[in-house]
Amino acid sequence: MKTQILEPSQENIRLASNALKNGQIVGIPTETVYGLAGNALDPEALAKIFDAKKRPTFDPLIVHISTDFDLGSLVDFSQLSAQAIENLQKLTQAFWPGPLTLVLPKKQLIPDLATSGLKSVAIRMPRHPVAQALLKEVGLPLAAPSANRFGRISPTSASHVMDELKGKIQYIIDAGSCEIGVESTVVELKLDGAVHLLRPGGVSQGEIEKLLGLTLKVGSPLKTASPGMLENHYAPLRPLFLLETHALEASFDKALGALETPPNRLGVLLFSGSAHKTQDLLSQKLGLPVTARCLSPSGDLLEAAKNLFAYLRELDDCGADILTAEPCPVSDGIGFAISDRLKKAATK
Ligand code: TXA
Ligand code: MG
Repeated sequence: MKTQILEPSQENIRLASNALKNGQIVGIPTETVYGLAGNALDPEALAKIFDAKKRPTFDPLIVHISTDFDLGSLVDFSQLSAQAIENLQKLTQAFWPGPLTLVLPKKQLIPDLATSGLKSVAIRMPRHPVAQALLKEVGLPLAAPSANRFGRISPTSASHVMDELKGKIQYIIDAGSCEIGVESTVVELKLDGAVHLLRPGGVSQGEIEKLLGLTLKVGSPLKTASPGMLENHYAPLRPLFLLETHALEASFDKALGALETPPNRLGVLLFSGSAHKTQDLLSQKLGLPVTARCLSPSGDLLEAAKNLFAYLRELDDCGADILTAEPCPVSDGIGFAISDRLKKAATK
């Protein structure tokens, strides 16, 4: 199959929408990362998503809806307590459309394949105008995991999707780089009103806690409840080690120990500062070529999140046989999501 990149014109949105209605799968932009979309109500389309991504079917998908979609057609509100309904209303009013995914009790209509047999379904209302235009045109809920092969770095541009899924899908809609750069926050609303954070992301834990006036339980008692929680995810092909740059020289031997032969080039991901200066300094000190990328020269967290996956990908492809990354210095807000992705991308 030839994969075509489409500009997001009205005509192309119609083309992609028709393909989706016919059970095909399409790469689409969202404000977080690019998704691989298919009709959430069609098990055959869902099977194509799992197949193209080589994703294990125990990993459930997120169902995306348009701003005018009736949530009640997918979610069984009757199971939710009054407290849970109140929390749901507050969360959707504050953060939808946007980078917040809510796990809610599902109705029968949603195929088991979408939820991996769970009784709950993850729902997200993206705010990206192209995603919304497509959702409205197609008039269906769209299941869309990130458009990467399972376990690999999530795509934040159409060309990343091409690298990941070329030949496996017909269309990718290109709307440039994603505004946020890390995936949505996944929150589970328990029937009794408790709220669990399953994956940190575009909406911070603090914002949610402030809005609801409660403390989120982090993680889930079920090990497989959110494979975004799996230890190894978002991974480059080269071994990646998390190292403070000032400790890099000293710790480098340890990292080298993981390689069978000495490296030809080192790739370094900095959180802030000058990529050029660090690149020169390190290659002098270590006596080997270094390629460095800096997530945000001024240390701005939002800029860092936006660049994270693209720079990991560039370093993975720069000819280096080993990568290091500075840990994110901030552990709250979007910093929690960046730290989470870096830890999971790192070699264990
Ligand atoms: O930002 C995003 O959320 C992107 C864009 C494309 O919208 N999508 C995305 O999908 O990140 P994916 O499939 O890569 O991640 C979905 C996460 C997984 O960790 C999955 O396990 C969790 O959501 N999830 C889905 N349904 C769930 C459920 N019923 N219970 C618990 N976790 C669930
Ligand atoms: Mg993913």
